[in-house]
Amino acid sequence: MTITEIRSLDDPRVLAGLWALLEDSVNGGASVGFHPPLGAPANAAYWAGVAEQVKSGATVLLAAGNDDGELVGTVQLALCPKQNGPHRAEVQKLLVHSAHRRRGLGRRLLAAAEERARALGRTLLVLDTLEGREAVPLYLGAGWIEVGRIPGYTVEADGSRHATVVFYKPL
Ligand SMILES: CC(C)(COP(=O)(O)OP(=O)(O)OC[C@H]1O[C@@H](n2cnc3c(N)ncnc32)[C@H](O)[C@@H]1OP(=O)(O)O)[C@@H](O)C(=O)NCCC(=O)NCCS
Repeated sequence: MTITEIRSLDDPRVLAGLWALLEDSVNGGASVGFHPPLGAPANAAYWAGVAEQVKSGATVLLAAGNDDGELVGTVQLALCPKQNGPHRAEVQKLLVHSAHRRRGLGRRLLAAAEERARALGRTLLVLDTLEGREAVPLYLGAGWIEVGRIPGYTVEADGSRHATVVFYKPL
């Protein structure tokens, strides 16, 4: 598995791989901003936005590919554009395809995002993730510090509300 930085989403194969990763996670029940089932228009609109951010340099997009060139995981680093935040970034959309989980890829993608952040002089990272989900032990195991939880942060399709856990990591 190779992790590389995606600098353009113009390649239809790359775009299709990213679409598939988001669809797999959302439809598998992950709380990553969308309700299942994830429709093609919402998926396309999301990645069109990411393409713009990548193009402008506001977002660093990493993806893990297997030997066949198939994308099996991804993560983003949103670089804070504020004058008081040139040292900050937010880790977003850490997704590993459900067929490739529990083999250390999520941990590797997170480490790659941290390494890229460090290289860009971003020495303070933040993120949040749904309470009780599998990502929480991943972040704790990678040395992230839990700030606390925000109750009722997300609302699911059935109307239920869920807390998010906020983390940070100084690099
Ligand atoms: C969260 C996610 C990225 C983890 O990817 P992964 O490749 O399976 O993670 P890893 O194999 O690197 O696991 C690293 C650690 O995370 C924890 N972890 C991962 N999956 C877990 C699970 N299902 N249950 C409990 N702990 C889990 C474990 O501590 C694990 O270490 P271990 O295998 O040595 O016990 C993946 O489950 C995923 O894509 N989920 C859907 C999207 C999502 O929720 N993303 C997070 C948004 S913030």
